[in-house]
Amino acid sequence: MTVPAQPGVLDPMLPVAVRVASVSRDTYDTCTLVTEPANGGSLPSFEPGQFSMLYRYGVGEVPISISGDPGVANRLVYTIRAVGAVSTSLVTRQAGDIITMRGPFGSCWPVEKARGGDVLVVAGGIGLAPLRPVIYHVLNNRKDYGRLTVLYGARSPKELLFTKELKSWSAQPDTQVLTSVDTGGTSWRGHVGVVTTLFEYVKLRPERIVAMTCGPEIMMRFVTRQLEGRAIPHEKIYLSMELNMKCAVGFCGHCQMGPYFLCKDGPVFSYAEMRQWMGGHHEL
Ligand SMILES: Cc1cc2nc3c(=O)[nH]c(=O)nc-3n(C[C@H](O)[C@H](O)[C@H](O)COP(=O)(O)OP(=O)(O)OC[C@H]3O[C@@H](n4cnc5c(N)ncnc54)[C@H](O)[C@@H]3O)c2cc1C
Ligand code: FES
Repeated sequence: MTVPAQPGVLDPMLPVAVRVASVSRDTYDTCTLVTEPANGGSLPSFEPGQFSMLYRYGVGEVPISISGDPGVANRLVYTIRAVGAVSTSLVTRQAGDIITMRGPFGSCWPVEKARGGDVLVVAGGIGLAPLRPVIYHVLNNRKDYGRLTVLYGARSPKELLFTKELKSWSAQPDTQVLTSVDTGGTSWRGHVGVVTTLFEYVKLRPERIVAMTCGPEIMMRFVTRQLEGRAIPHEKIYLSMELNMKCAVGFCGHCQMGPYFLCKDGPVFSYAEMRQWMGGHHEL
């Protein structure tokens, strides 16, 4: 699903200043930043699954998916987990701070292809961030889609993202949201097990469904196995390959996987395209 160049983005190498409008803490190491134009003007629109390159002066630049509602103009929302220097610098921003942004870049989730049928979202950890715009899109256009199923796994309860929204999504018509954690602890009353153990609680209609998954590569490989076992064709399974990136525009080769540059041909690919390039597929 290649996205045409965004109107308003003149030079993809030129960072644009954005102001942090608000910050919310999602977990102990993850924050969501809502950004708006810093100097009047407007921000480009985006498609679910696309990412920006976010830059902190003197620290560095990293790819971060856009996790907000694609139906809301002039705001770009990012959910960032602090794992190293740049991501930590971003999650410690406060309302009013300026950062810079390039993009949006990359391919998008196949929300148009899925129109008229069922949508399955399977996310692990921070992988729910790039998939949240899909959920917003389906719920904003509820009559255009069939059943929405969201399977979400995190390592522990304290790492679950968007917990209030998970609850409110599950109250929507024809929508099933199931959550799991690898390790629960004494106060956890929910499901325990890796995210693929949730498959036994859902009924999928292979002829109607488009599946979208994001998380650690090993998780996505087990998810694709489950989907294959339920006769869902490779062309209807999509994944986001989040290898690290530098230029984001197909110049540097940093993100190459097989014949693809993940930054411009991806990050979202069908499993049919990506299957042979994912590490160790046949060892599973
Ligand atoms: C297309 C794309 C979208 C992304 N979207 C998000 C997002 O929405 N939210 C978010 O928090 N992160 C996202 N990431 C990952 C994010 O870019 C990295 O966490 C970040 O680059 C780490 O930089 P750093 O300087 O903070 O840490 P570094 O010091 O560079 O790395 C710290 C640790 O994180 C590991 N790491 C670095 N990059 C990645 C990566 N891409 N995937 C897994 N581990 C990595 C390193 O191996 C190292 O162990 C995305 C990555 C890509 C390619
Ligand atoms: S990040 Fe440079 S080619 Fe993809």
